[in-house]
Amino acid sequence: MEIVDSRNVLQSIVKEFRLQGVSVGFVPTMGALHEGHLSLIRRSNKENEITIVSIFVNPTQFNDQDDYKRYPRIISDDIEKLKSINCDFLFTPSKEEMYPEEDKREFDFGNTDKVMEGAHRPGHFRGVALIVSKLFEIVSPHKAYFGEKDFQQVAVIKHLTKLLDLDIEIVPCPIIREKDGLAMSSRNILLSEDQRKNVSLISKTLFESVNMMKLLNLIETKEWVMRKINENPFLKVEYFEIVDSETLESVIEWTQSQNITGCIAVHVGNIRLIDNIRFYS
Ligand code: PAF
Repeated sequence: MEIVDSRNVLQSIVKEFRLQGVSVGFVPTMGALHEGHLSLIRRSNKENEITIVSIFVNPTQFNDQDDYKRYPRIISDDIEKLKSINCDFLFTPSKEEMYPEEDKREFDFGNTDKVMEGAHRPGHFRGVALIVSKLFEIVSPHKAYFGEKDFQQVAVIKHLTKLLDLDIEIVPCPIIREKDGLAMSSRNILLSEDQRKNVSLISKTLFESVNMMKLLNLIETKEWVMRKINENPFLKVEYFEIVDSETLESVIEWTQSQNITGCIAVHVGNIRLIDNIRFYS
C-alpha cells in the first residue's frame, strides 16, 4: 500500500490510472477504522481495479469543537488494517493541504440537510459537502462507497454529486453491527464499559419496533421507541424520526407503497450515536 499526503501527487497518480482505463474505487473515512469501513473497502476491492482510502478528520463538519478534539485518531492501527485487506492507496492529507484557504461555498440540498442531523448539528452537512467535493475532485473515482449508518449523509452526498454534475456512482453499503446489534462506529471506542453494556438497547429497540409497527400506528411506534430508550438512565434520545427514505420528509402514517426509514440519534454521556432501521423498502 502506498501512503500519499499530497493532493497533487495523488491527483497525478489517479490521472495516469484513468488514462490506462483502470477502474478506481474510493472509500473516504475519518479513520479509527472498524469492520464497517473494512466492508466498504472489501466491496470496492471487488468492484474496482484499485481502491483508494482517505483518512482525514474534517474540522468543518464538527459543530462541537470538543467532539472534534475527542474524535479517535489511531493512524498506525488504521495503516495495519488497510495493509491487511489490500488497500492500494491511503490518502492522509493535512488540514493545510485540504483547506489552504477558507472555503466559503454554500450548497442547496433542499430538505435533505435541514432535518434530523442537519437540524441538530448546524453546518455539519455543509462541512461534509465541502470535504467530499474536494476529495472527489482529487481522487475522481468511478465509484465511492458510504455506510448506511450515516443514512442522511448518503442522501446528501447523492444530492451533491447531482448538484456538481459529477460522474461518480455513490454506492450505499449496509450497516455492520456488533454481536449485540450495536451499529459499528468509530465513536464506539469512546464508550465506558457501563455505557457499552447499555447502548445495545438502541438497536434492540429499533429491531423490536418492526414488530411493534404491526400493533401500533406510526406516531405510537415513534413514542414507544423513544420511551423505551429514554427509560434507560444511560441514554437520552435526541430525535427519532420516521421519514421517506428518499426525500427524508416526515411520514405520519404507515404506507406500504412508500420506502420508510426510522432514524435515531442518542446521547450517551457526551458521546452521540446514530442508527436507523428500514420499515418499508
Ligand atoms: O462518514 C465519514 O466518515 C465522514 O463524514 C466523511 C464522509 C469521510 C467526510 O469527512
